[in-house]
Amino acid sequence: MENTAKKTVLSCIQPSGMLTLGNYLGALKNWINMQEEFDCTFAVADLHAITVRQEPAKLRAQIHSTFALLLALGLDPERSTLFIQSHVPEHSQLAWLLSCYTQFGEMSRMTQFKDKSAKHADNVNVGLFAYPALMAADILLYNPDFVPVGADQKQHLEITRDIANRFNGIYGDVFKIPEPFIAKTGARVMSLQDPTKKMSKSDENLNSWVAILDTPDDIMRKFKRAVTDSEARVCIGEEKHGINNLIGIYSAITGKSSDAITAEFEGKGYGDFKMAVGEAVVEELRPIRERYEQIIKDKKQLEELYKAGAAKAERTAIRTLSKAMKKVGFVL
Ligand code: TRP
Repeated sequence: MENTAKKTVLSCIQPSGMLTLGNYLGALKNWINMQEEFDCTFAVADLHAITVRQEPAKLRAQIHSTFALLLALGLDPERSTLFIQSHVPEHSQLAWLLSCYTQFGEMSRMTQFKDKSAKHADNVNVGLFAYPALMAADILLYNPDFVPVGADQKQHLEITRDIANRFNGIYGDVFKIPEPFIAKTGARVMSLQDPTKKMSKSDENLNSWVAILDTPDDIMRKFKRAVTDSEARVCIGEEKHGINNLIGIYSAITGKSSDAITAEFEGKGYGDFKMAVGEAVVEELRPIRERYEQIIKDKKQLEELYKAGAAKAERTAIRTLSKAMKKVGFVL
């Protein structure tokens, strides 16, 4: 039974081929827990993915695998609404509307646009520029109370609020103004090779990041090679980026405080600590990988689930879009 008193949450994730331990501990693990307390909607943001060039077969496989991974992680289609963004056409429709209430100047200030257009200088397309209007549509269609976002998406949530407030200012209360959701727990996972940088799947050094679906052997190898320091004491320290990162990871998985972790490894070397962190990660990710392997095999069931999710999402999306269109003066 749907509990109408529950607050609502919405978030989306791009269908990148390889979600990392950073995505898991920084965001996805919180999504799983949020299902207890909130009425949640989660989508695979495939429309966002084509702002950079994609290979069709690969994109298709990644959309499937990202959806399957969300299920494997423990997002429950009975409790939450899980779907693929492009299956609900209202996202594109509302994005167009909202883009007409967004100023060129404010879009130009988006730091992600600046970064991405520098990185893909040969393909600075209008979609890349307008991306925050699509993200605003993703959010505003579902009237969420909260949107869990990482630091890199905070500016996009702010512009969403600005656009919504502007629209409401003209037409009355159409959109709920969403709040960012800052999780109580959740780690910012850094590169295992250069722990001053965020862990990223685009890092060329493959030992610097762990994929959620990595094998136990790969995970152990990467942790054994993790960069540390020469102090040989497991404790938080200003210049101990590598150890701080490993403590953060171990703490996010075991729930132990950093003081408890320091006590646990008192008198032990970094070798032991790295093994322990690696093993904790292996055991945390093992059931996810095993479930993923089952789920991805059953394409038929996968299809049933994402179709049902889209149908459920669309019921809300249509309502919000119609309301906004009516206000603007379209004939419905
Ligand atoms: N832009 C987000 C990212 O790249 C993904 C995203 C798309 C999103 N739509 C969203 C996140 C709506 C939160 C809410 O990570």
